[in-house]
Order: sequence, then C-alpha cells, then structure tokens
Amino acid sequence: MELPQERRLVTDIPGPRSRELLARRNAAIPKAVFNTVPVFVERASGAIVEDVDGNRLIDFGAGLAVLNVGNAHPAVVEAIREQADAYTHTCFHVTLHEPYVALAERLNELTPGDHEKRTMLVNSGAEAVENAVKLARSFTGRPAAVTFDHAFHGRTLLALTLTGKAMPYKLGFGPFAPEVYRLPFAYPYRCPTGRPPEECGPSCADLVIDEIERHIGPDSVACVIAEPVQGEGGFVVPAPEFLPRLAQYCRDRGILFVADEVQTGFGRTGRWFAAEHFGLVPDIVTTAKALGGGLPIGGVTARADIMDSVHVGGLGGTFGGNPIAAAAALEVIASIEREGLLERAERVGATLTAGLGDLQDRHEVVGDVRGLGAMVAMELVEDRGTKRPAKEAAARTIEECYRQGLIVLKAGTYDNVVRLLPPLTIADDLVEEGLGLLDKALAAATQ
Ligand SMILES: Cc1ncc(COP(=O)(O)O)c(C=O)c1O
Repeated sequence: MELPQERRLVTDIPGPRSRELLARRNAAIPKAVFNTVPVFVERASGAIVEDVDGNRLIDFGAGLAVLNVGNAHPAVVEAIREQADAYTHTCFHVTLHEPYVALAERLNELTPGDHEKRTMLVNSGAEAVENAVKLARSFTGRPAAVTFDHAFHGRTLLALTLTGKAMPYKLGFGPFAPEVYRLPFAYPYRCPTGRPPEECGPSCADLVIDEIERHIGPDSVACVIAEPVQGEGGFVVPAPEFLPRLAQYCRDRGILFVADEVQTGFGRTGRWFAAEHFGLVPDIVTTAKALGGGLPIGGVTARADIMDSVHVGGLGGTFGGNPIAAAAALEVIASIEREGLLERAERVGATLTAGLGDLQDRHEVVGDVRGLGAMVAMELVEDRGTKRPAKEAAARTIEECYRQGLIVLKAGTYDNVVRLLPPLTIADDLVEEGLGLLDKALAAATQ
C-alpha cells in the first residue's frame, strides 16, 4: 500500500502502542540488540515510515542504507511476490536457479572495470567481507589483511576483527582473528599525520605504505580492505590521492585491493559504486545492504582468476543467493536504471550538502559537513578549535529529530556524527522539510 508522502504526528513519539511493544521487546530481546528510534512500524512506502500509532516519519535512514529505491518499492514487492509464487528456495548447492545467475551477471557488469569477473552471493555484508578475505588469502597464499582506523566491516569474528571501534562493537568479544593489521585512514578533518586537508591524502598513503613495508612486509599481505567512503566510521570521505596511491602500491606488490561497498553501493554516492569516484578498479568488491532493496542478500565480485583459483566446494552457504532475495535485487538494479536514481542521488546529495552547510554557518556545534552523493553527514564538536567530539549533542539532536518525525542516524568513532541517508527516490519537499527539522533539533540540542 502506498502512503501519502507527508509527515504526520498524532501522538508523542513513542506513542502508546509502540510503548506497549517496547515493554514486550525489552522482556524478550537483549538490550545488546540496539535500537535508535523507539517506534514499531506498521507500514512504509517511499520515504515515509508509519508507526503503529499512526505517526508518519520522514525517513533519512533508509533502514540503515538499505532502501535506496525507497521503502517497499512497488516493483520490488511485485518481483518478490512473483518469485515466492514460483518457488522460495533451492539451495544453490542442491539445485540451481536462474535469479542467482542473472544477478551474478549484473554485478559482474556493474562493478568497476571491464575485466572478466565472477560473483558469489551471500546473505549479509559481514559474510561478503569474510569471503573476500578468504579469497584473497587463498589466491595469494599470504596471511595478512590490512584494515583502517574508523573501519566497519561487520560483526562476525573476522569482520569484527577488521572493524576499528571497541565500543560497542568489540569490547569483550575477543580474542580476535590473527593477521589483521590496522593502519591510519586519510580523514581530512582529523588528519592522522596532522597535515591540512589538501596534504592529508598523500601523507597518509606514504605512512600506510611505510608501515606495510617496515612492520608487516608486503609479501605477507593478502589484501588491503577499505570502504571507499567510511560508513559507520562517520561518512569519512578519504582525502584525494589516498586510495588511488594505495591501490597502485597494492598492484605493484601483488596485494589484492578489496573495496567494501556494502554501505556505499547501488547509487548511494551518485555512481553505482563509490570506488568509481576515485578511479579505482578493485580486485574484489563486496556488496549487501541496498542490493536487496530490503531483503537480505550480499555479493562478492572478483577478478575471474581470483575466484576460479578456489577448489570446488570452497565457497558457499545454504541460503546464499536465495531466489526471492535475488529476484528483489534484480528489480532494485532495474529500478535504479529506469528511474535515473544515480542522477537523483547527486541532486538529493547537493541539496543535503547545501542545507547542512547552511546549518554549519548558524550552529557553532557543526564542525564539519561532508559526504559523497546522497551519503551526507555533519560532525558535531564542542569547540571548533580543539574539535573535541560533541557526543551528547549528537545523541540529543537525533532524539529531537525523531520526536519531530524525522529518522536520522548516528555514526562516527566518537559517536558525534549525524548521518543522512534518505531513499534516493525522496521528493524535494521532504528533503527540505527534513533539513528544517534538523535545524530545530540542533537548536534544541545545544541550548
Ligand atoms: C561497509 C560495511 N561493511 C560491512 C557491513 C556489515 O554488513 P551486515 O550488517 O549486512 O553484516 C556494514 C554494515 O553496516 C558496512 O557498513
């Protein structure tokens, strides 16, 4: 059912029905399984989420970077229905099905580079990352994986080891996997080498390369894995030259370059993949989140010679490439093409960036505004000189937003980034309304 694309508040948030369900949730589900907006959803469409009390919230979260084509896109829902009518599961290791093949073909076409590729399908971003590192180790015969500060790659053991934030992700969950090395990332607002933004990229690339050369040894490194724009780490767009220089170094040293496009993929940044903005052609690309338009599916797309080096039976899983999820993903890709959502992402992103720039001019707490395409964030600081992170202000801003009917999400190693990820299909008036609500939320949060 399609909902009017309008915000509507009929109760406080959370309303009485959501509160009842929250009490049941608290009794049945651990608090460790966290939640940002304390409402239960009744229905959703486009960029509007309706809760069980009848409130309609503007969605700047897209189910955590999943609903790029919008909540319950009608064509995706129809594809799911049609596939469910025909069959729901085969396990690709038992009998085969065409949606898996068709989706692999599309991912091979769309990921950067026109070389021969192969794709395997999985259930989640973390599973894609695990398989990317498995592949890199098997192909190179080397043990080490290099990851970065502020990285987030998932919550399974190896993906969690690659992740760069103790609280809440890693604390108490060790010991972690061996042979993972973490190096600085070119974060222009907080350059680890202390350089101004224009020198951050080359200086951090030199530092990383020097660390690999001296401390790890390039002949031990199977892969370098990077998010082309760091997602959970705070929408950190790496300074220019950082990733291209590292990718070139990897090529020279026989190290595989893995782009984790789980959060940045499928039009979010105005291109199919964020790696394209930096002219990168990764050896391996991981995908998930927006690929399935709300159904759980991920992919690992790699150079054919890398994929084909693995023995029969070495890769897979029971549900990987489930036909309903694959049918949904094929329709997500078709919808992005049909509706021109790459261009739309740039336009939405430009409006959001200009809007946040305006908020930065008027609210001292907004230290930095950054992003790529429709992946836009503001980093809040207590003081623009010291850049001390304003974690409480970020939490209060997010709460003020949802109380006014706007879903926004937190990010950042210091929990001080407010990130915006609306569906790419969102109407201009909802973007503007959301920016107005953010303005009020910042004022209320910092008074
Ligand atoms: C860049 C990146 N990689 C991997 C993951 C893990 O994906 P999943 O939650 O589907 O396991 C995430 C999730 O936020 C992500 O942003």
